Amino acid sequence: MSHRRENGAAKDATAQNFQLVLYKGFKLIKGIHDPDDVNQIYDLEIRDSDVFVVTYPKSGTIWMQQILLLIEAKGDVKAISKQGSYSNAALVPWIELNGNREAFITAPSPRLRVTHLQYQFLPAALSQKKGKVIYVARNPKDVLVSYFHFHKLANMLETPKDFDDFFEKFLTGDVSACCWFEHIKTWYSHKDDMNMLFITYEEMIQDLPSVVERISVFLGKELTDEQLVNVVQHSIFSNMRKIPQASYEGAQGNLLNSHQGRFMRKGIIGDWKNHFTVAQNERFDEVFHREMKDFPLSFIWDQGQ
Ligand code: A3P
Repeated sequence: MSHRRENGAAKDATAQNFQLVLYKGFKLIKGIHDPDDVNQIYDLEIRDSDVFVVTYPKSGTIWMQQILLLIEAKGDVKAISKQGSYSNAALVPWIELNGNREAFITAPSPRLRVTHLQYQFLPAALSQKKGKVIYVARNPKDVLVSYFHFHKLANMLETPKDFDDFFEKFLTGDVSACCWFEHIKTWYSHKDDMNMLFITYEEMIQDLPSVVERISVFLGKELTDEQLVNVVQHSIFSNMRKIPQASYEGAQGNLLNSHQGRFMRKGIIGDWKNHFTVAQNERFDEVFHREMKDFPLSFIWDQGQ
């Protein structure tokens, strides 16, 4: 048996311990999410300095973790590593993971958090303009492709049978975090109730300095030109990928199977073109136009667009 197949088998055995559970219309992962705990996130007290980055999976969450930490550190990347964490996820944690809600209550400010949860679960206080929300959206064709590869890598997710099978699962929302359309539509339609900055992965790819500037102004953490250059420098794909703490290379073990690929995979716009058939693309477009017809959101689907 080849090395690869042995690792694949080990991953599938682990995946059986992490099944998806439907809770209030949302799919959580048994073993890393506790529905009772997730249910209590709604009642959390929020401080004005709290920041929640909201993403559908594979939309640039770890990129934002690195950017927020760098903005806090005024571009000084060594100051982040000095905090002694094996992963940025320990410094900017997912609010919905087991144990993290409780830790949030007494954590010192600024409390920087990420989440894949749908709107209905997040602290109600956010909708009274307390704290700040940054929603990062990515074109859903690239999300689908990135999520497909991530399912092969992540021990807590079932390895897809093949791309075609995963394509259908994604379109019907039969994946962790459910339906991409539902996620973006519910958050987007509440954006004016909150202090929300809405950005896209594609804007970050095409003009990272201006997105970093917008984020720092939004957070009231204005940077000097030199600090801004440093934030950008340490968060571009090629550099971030070399930092184990930022690229999740340090988070292997029971969560990721490094033999199946890397968390920071390609980091480009338009990889869907290497995966979708013509028929799949037509089907996707048809669903996209039907679902998004009342939402004034346009996406960049192609690197050269
Ligand atoms: P790909 O699989 O398309 O490469 P998330 O953190 O939400 O799971 O998103 C992961 C996706 O964001 C991966 O996409 C990953 O490579 C990409 N990504 C992470 N950091 C990035 C960066 N600095 N620049 C561009 N893409 C980045």
